[in-house]
Amino acid sequence: MEYDQSVIVPESYKVLISEKEIQKRLQELGEQITRDFKGKTPILIGILNGSFIFLADLIRYINTDLEVDFIRISSYGNGRESSGHIKILKPLSADINGRSVLVVEDIVDSGLSVQFLRKMLEAFNPVELKFVTLLNKPEKKKVDVSIDYVGFDIEDKFVVGYGLDDGQMKRNLRSIYYIEQE
Ligand code: IMP
Ligand code: MG
Repeated sequence: MEYDQSVIVPESYKVLISEKEIQKRLQELGEQITRDFKGKTPILIGILNGSFIFLADLIRYINTDLEVDFIRISSYGNGRESSGHIKILKPLSADINGRSVLVVEDIVDSGLSVQFLRKMLEAFNPVELKFVTLLNKPEKKKVDVSIDYVGFDIEDKFVVGYGLDDGQMKRNLRSIYYIEQE
């Protein structure tokens, strides 16, 4: 049985991807990433805050040595639309020069964050720079970005849970929900 979190799930939240479906897909992604990065000791860079749970679960499905680092950027403020103004709130700590890098995103929406991160990280001369995202909204792209690994393509709906926030809360929900408009 799935762990009951109903006391913190509002009525307007509907399950989009269940806890079980997420874990099943992570295992598949982990196997693919393991094959592609075998022997390369990649550095995985989680984009805070949204990706922290995805990264924590994903790396436990990856069977090769790896390192972990984080960057924090902001594009949204506390709203639900990308502002397009991206700020670095916590820079990279690791030296990625000559390394294989896998950037770990929670969700790719307009693509502006990924475009910004690619440009910024390429300047440090990694030998390889790939992106994995748990969720992707194909309809919302403002710029053309290529993502190497996508967990789930989803419709253009605002989603929360599993690291993704609704006004900074609900990150601790185990499934991914969309919010039904009142
Ligand atoms: P982009 O730059 O428009 O691709 O936005 C990417 C970032 O916006 C993600 O890393 C999330 O932090 C945030 N974001 C986009 N869509 C959603 C959503 O539906 N729920 C929660 N956060 C979102
Ligand atoms: Mg984010």
